[in-house]
Amino acid sequence: MPAVVVVGSANVDFTVQVDRAPKPGETIFGRNLLISFGGKGANQAVAARRAGAVVAFVGKVGQDQHGEQIRTHLETVGIGEAGLISDASCATGVAFILVEPDGRNQIVVASGCNYRLTPAEIEARDHLLTGEILLLQLETPVETVFSALRRAKEKGMRTILNPAPATHLPQEVFPLVDLLTPNETEASTLTGIAVEDRSGAEEAGAKLLAMGCGGVIITLGADGALWMSKDGAQHFPGFSVQPVDSTAAGDAFNGALAAALAEGSVLEEAIPFANAAGAVATTRRGAQESLPDRAAILALVSSVK
Ligand code: RIB
Repeated sequence: MPAVVVVGSANVDFTVQVDRAPKPGETIFGRNLLISFGGKGANQAVAARRAGAVVAFVGKVGQDQHGEQIRTHLETVGIGEAGLISDASCATGVAFILVEPDGRNQIVVASGCNYRLTPAEIEARDHLLTGEILLLQLETPVETVFSALRRAKEKGMRTILNPAPATHLPQEVFPLVDLLTPNETEASTLTGIAVEDRSGAEEAGAKLLAMGCGGVIITLGADGALWMSKDGAQHFPGFSVQPVDSTAAGDAFNGALAAALAEGSVLEEAIPFANAAGAVATTRRGAQESLPDRAAILALVSSVK
């Protein structure tokens, strides 16, 4: 039985390094094209698997070359393809990523089949929605996310929603979320509060709790993460690393968090573990190839003890 179930997107990523992002109407040269397996859903599933969890993934790809490659890849990484739906009427999702010298990125996603994953298809795979944790993002339709959350709560699973990419959500979603894990931008979008420092994060976190989430973890990049619950706020510092590519760092955080919680860790242990996973991911290029295994995460955690 899986410990962590991820419902979400699967993409193929095309990443290019640039000296700076182009201006409107400008053509620039990039270098070192990297073609990776990506998509926030599949990234988080692989991150949880590498962090040590037994993982199931539910998502949708096209009946095309990229879809077949993703299917084979999910088998190879030990997740399996039982939850991967193929649809001939849409293309597998792709993402185009520019990475600047300081590791910051810009991403454009062509969702393709990811945005055709329906609530009915989740219901038809109800047997896969079992385990400790359901982990979701927002690269699939909100109604699909809502229906998976509702079913997971009925089954007594703990739910984590990483509200990425940033968008507005209907109010009825929040009470179904045990842990919401926005970054600063996403927390701002959801609350209308500017989140530029820890005090802005606390204000946004308080609002998200009032909207019905069980708990909120706002990721703060190099500054770590802020956990807010009914008992108050707790800050967990980031790890000092030399970033080369921030792609999938948030996914590394969420996957590792889910894996740690699924094996019984409390949040005081799970958040530093997840922070370390995110930090390691920034030191490597690409999406899924940047996701650390358990040993690499624990090595960074113990390096500061
Ligand atoms: O979070 C990073 C991911 O966002 C990339 O892998 C890309 O596919 C987009 O989904």
